[in-house]
Amino acid sequence: MCGIVGYVGKQQAYPILIKGLHRLEYRGYDSAGLALINANDELNVYKTKGKVVNLEHFVEGKDSTGCIGIAHTRWATHGEPSQINAHPHYSKTKNIALIHNGIIENYADLKKKLQAKGIEFVSDTDTEVLVHLIEYIYQRDKSNMVTAVQVALNQVIGAYAIAIIDRNNPETLIVARKSSPLVIGIGDGEFFLASDASPIVEYTKQMIFLDNDEIAVINLKSGVKVKKLNNVEVTPEIKEVMLDVGQLEKGGYPHFMLKEIFEQPECLINCMKGRVNVDLNDVKLAAIIDNKQTLLNANRIVILACGTSWHSGLIGKYLIETFCKIPVDVEYASEFRYRNSVISPNDVVIAISQSGETADTLAAIELAREKGAFVYGICNAVGSSIPRVTHTGSYIHVGPEIGVASTKAFTGQVTVLTMFALALAKAKNIIEHDKFLEMIKELSLIPDKIREVLKHNDKIADLAKIFTYARNFIYLGRGYCFPVALEGALKLKEISYIHAEGYPAAEMKHGPIALIDEEMPVVFIATQNSLYEKVVSNMQEVKARKGRIIAIVNKGDHKLQELADYCIEVPATVDSLEPLITSIPMQLLAYHIAVCKGKNVDQPRNLAKSVTVE
Ligand code: M6R
Repeated sequence: MCGIVGYVGKQQAYPILIKGLHRLEYRGYDSAGLALINANDELNVYKTKGKVVNLEHFVEGKDSTGCIGIAHTRWATHGEPSQINAHPHYSKTKNIALIHNGIIENYADLKKKLQAKGIEFVSDTDTEVLVHLIEYIYQRDKSNMVTAVQVALNQVIGAYAIAIIDRNNPETLIVARKSSPLVIGIGDGEFFLASDASPIVEYTKQMIFLDNDEIAVINLKSGVKVKKLNNVEVTPEIKEVMLDVGQLEKGGYPHFMLKEIFEQPECLINCMKGRVNVDLNDVKLAAIIDNKQTLLNANRIVILACGTSWHSGLIGKYLIETFCKIPVDVEYASEFRYRNSVISPNDVVIAISQSGETADTLAAIELAREKGAFVYGICNAVGSSIPRVTHTGSYIHVGPEIGVASTKAFTGQVTVLTMFALALAKAKNIIEHDKFLEMIKELSLIPDKIREVLKHNDKIADLAKIFTYARNFIYLGRGYCFPVALEGALKLKEISYIHAEGYPAAEMKHGPIALIDEEMPVVFIATQNSLYEKVVSNMQEVKARKGRIIAIVNKGDHKLQELADYCIEVPATVDSLEPLITSIPMQLLAYHIAVCKGKNVDQPRNLAKSVTVE
């Protein structure tokens, strides 16, 4: 949930660290800090509450020189967002500075022991325990710093990615990870460090993705040496990461979220490239071809995910049950991992995650693997943790998603799940040929249909102005569009802070109908699918109670134009592909309402892009 950046080389570290922090601000943005060792071997730590830009102002006029440094952007877990609690944290002698992403679960116990030895703490963080523990062991054992880090980390329970600099060793970064990501970039006589590849990619494409329980010593002269916490040396694999810096910029849009909404047609073309072949009437996913028998033998599929990815998982359930006739359960990863989940070796687990780093999803995968299940990952972030701990999987290939509210990753996940369902149904030989052809044709038309929806952007922006007053919203849909209602409500609440609920439209009469009055905006996904008439009846019920209806309708639906207060038209498609179209106006409505309310849509309060804590 926090972002880590580091540099050692011949260049001044400060501008590289600041630029890196800006790229990682999506991970956390309540405070920021950095540590630099200057040419006189002085270790300077600067930190502030708030965003990276505050840190830049704070450092103005101060000594920001040095060719080695570490930097951090925080998402608070232990201790409120404040200058004191911001990272880096100094050791007692102020010789060492440390940054951390993760949670030290046994920090209270370790803190008590260190306090008993006379060590004073200045912050409320769990992280400060680490830096004091490392220095304490270093002094007690008169060992070297790397050994001290190893001994300290062996006493720690929890998750961490850490980076340390020591003014007595000003050409070396020491880093380690367990459950939180860390990437090392290898340049020409210089080395970079970050929580993901985005701060590194403009300097080098050669990267090492550190594994769990690994510690790396990055020295300007001797390069990168990696070992396990138990001291066994490891030969690190250097990967070439192809990421375009342009994809990390806003490209003329006022926010990443809007850019990412508008990118969706291209993203879905990329996602389907080489997989959906309209000329050959085929859908291929390499992971299905390679693991065909295992997938065909599946008794049951269990989908594990969180947040928006859980919503796409719910659509996946409808798709897989419809086309493959395999029972599917969709579970919140956080619930699955702590209840007595029944999983057997004949179950296939699909783990869905944009970031590939979500702590609950990672833990749920580990549990499913322990119980013998075969695990298939659906991820966006290449080289992230989930693709490395699953048996197989498919990337969604929609490019980096920077806005905290997930948009293009959602439609990318639904597209992969659609391809998965179709390819598996074909492998099982249970889908009618004509239906299969219709699906491929319709799937290939989706990017153009999304382009048509995007043309309503201005109209939706006008509509948003009308609803900025609202304190609550209800989203209703049925069938494949029920998860879209859930996703629409989540988008609105996370960026506009308006309370919103998504329901299956027919459930409304079992309780939520009591909320309807002339103040209540109700968004209906009311496209002309097999449940259309039923949704229209639900709409009548809302109308009768004077609710203010915003309806997502198919082009030319005059009946609903009369019934609803406001309509947004979308092109028609088959029922099972409607989420790919109807989710777009949901995203735009949430975006424009949040903009009208003056909210920070890319970095909403209390949230972070990568939820690496449970
Ligand atoms: O990276 P993941 O897909 O595993 O993340 C899961 C959720 O944290 C994420 O979808 C979250 O709900 C988003 N902020 C939704 O926009």
